Amino acid sequence: MTFSHPLNIIVLAAGKGTRMKSETPKVLHAAAGRSLVEWVLAAAEGLSPERLHVVIGPESESRIDDLPWAKPGSWSVQRDRKGTGHAVQQAADALSGASGYTLVLYADTPLVTTAALRALVEDTIADNADVALTVFEAQEPGGYGRIVLDDEGRPLEIVEAKDATPAQREITLCNGGLMLARTEVLFDLLAQTTDSNAAGEYYITDIVGLARKAGLRTRASQFDPNLLAGVNSRRELAAVEAVLQDRLRAALMDGGVTMIAPETVTLSYDTRVGADTIIEPNVFFGTGVVVGRGCRLRAGSYFEGAQVGEDVIVGPMARLREGTVLSDTVKVGNFVEIKKAHLHAGAKAPHLTYVGDADVGERANLGAGTITCNYDGINKHRTTIGAGAFIGSNAALVAPLTIGDGALVGAGSTITEDVPANAIVTTRGPTKTKENAAERYRERLRAIKARLNAQK
Ligand code: UD1
Ligand code: MG
Repeated sequence: MTFSHPLNIIVLAAGKGTRMKSETPKVLHAAAGRSLVEWVLAAAEGLSPERLHVVIGPESESRIDDLPWAKPGSWSVQRDRKGTGHAVQQAADALSGASGYTLVLYADTPLVTTAALRALVEDTIADNADVALTVFEAQEPGGYGRIVLDDEGRPLEIVEAKDATPAQREITLCNGGLMLARTEVLFDLLAQTTDSNAAGEYYITDIVGLARKAGLRTRASQFDPNLLAGVNSRRELAAVEAVLQDRLRAALMDGGVTMIAPETVTLSYDTRVGADTIIEPNVFFGTGVVVGRGCRLRAGSYFEGAQVGEDVIVGPMARLREGTVLSDTVKVGNFVEIKKAHLHAGAKAPHLTYVGDADVGERANLGAGTITCNYDGINKHRTTIGAGAFIGSNAALVAPLTIGDGALVGAGSTITEDVPANAIVTTRGPTKTKENAAERYRERLRAIKARLNAQK
């Protein structure tokens, strides 16, 4: 959806994040499968902005090739971190000639939603304001900037906690940080800010007082403080993760998924699960997982990069890795690991099996302990198992290998050559049976034991 005025967005992502105690820049830490900055970018993209620009720090710049969202021209670097106002100024070139409004977001605030941002933009446009702040009431305003209002309830200035007088510190109306301003005034006002304050930084918040001096219209938009939670430490990262997990689980349940113990299920931002699927406790979803309708995902199973059809049973304690495709009605049981393999409709791997780099035909049955030996230490090779084939327990299928439709592989076989359709193949040694030999054998063992004891 677009607005009656063009919208541009700047995301500030240059902070060091010292309290994370990490080699990784703070905004690149992940929650529910994607980085904090990507959460903010996703919320921003929901508004279809004309321009979307990210200000990153030098630590992120050195990893830029690994950041899929950092498209050329969509980011700039803030080398000396001289404050939030200075950070916004790093986007000045990227926004030159832009009109309408510009929204400033913080990359370490991943809980903001498109809906809340949209309301902020719509209310600001409707109010014809030049500069809009996001504000909330806090019992303990701590380090937040304090909002000083005029008699009409419009912001006169923001006073940073460090610079506030004792009386100003008593103010409980706080600056949420996100800000919206007419693009043409934003950079003019920023150019007038100075670093003569307690932090010695250029504050974006100073544009409010400057706007009032210039006779511009300011606005305080109430914002849900729960959407403004920031990440500065690992504990706060965990708190944000918990909120995101709650949201993702709620969305799946609203879509018709049953979760027996939702608080034990871990999802990724892109996890998709169809209606009438039941998820048992302690199931983990990495990124890139799509599950169809009517499945049963049993306790303790682990999914990543897997596509699962309809009416499929997985687990308990199964692991579906990258490139797994399970067609409808497949059954994968306990202690089964699957990687880069397609099990076609009705195929079964009920227990204790590894299927890697393989194609398993419709209704094929893999007995307990079936292993595709896909790796020779240097290269990976493929195994193809035909429709309706039956693989006996504990078979080692040494790839590259093709087993034809309807073939039967005897239990305990090590198969190194292709098997034709409908053939029976076994590679185990012949069975020798000695009638009544067991007791004679035990007698011999007892005699040996007696001799050894006598020698002690
Ligand atoms: C800021 C606001 C404060 C508000 C609070 C809400 C200012 C001066 N103060 O304070 O009024 O109540 O947010 O959370 O803006 N950043 C850069 N480059 C810099 C400095 C910061 O990119 O040089 C980024 C940070 O990575 C972060 C964001 O800007 O994403 C906010 O910076 P932070 O230092 O957390 O500001 P606060 O002190 O929290
Ligand atoms: Mg902060």
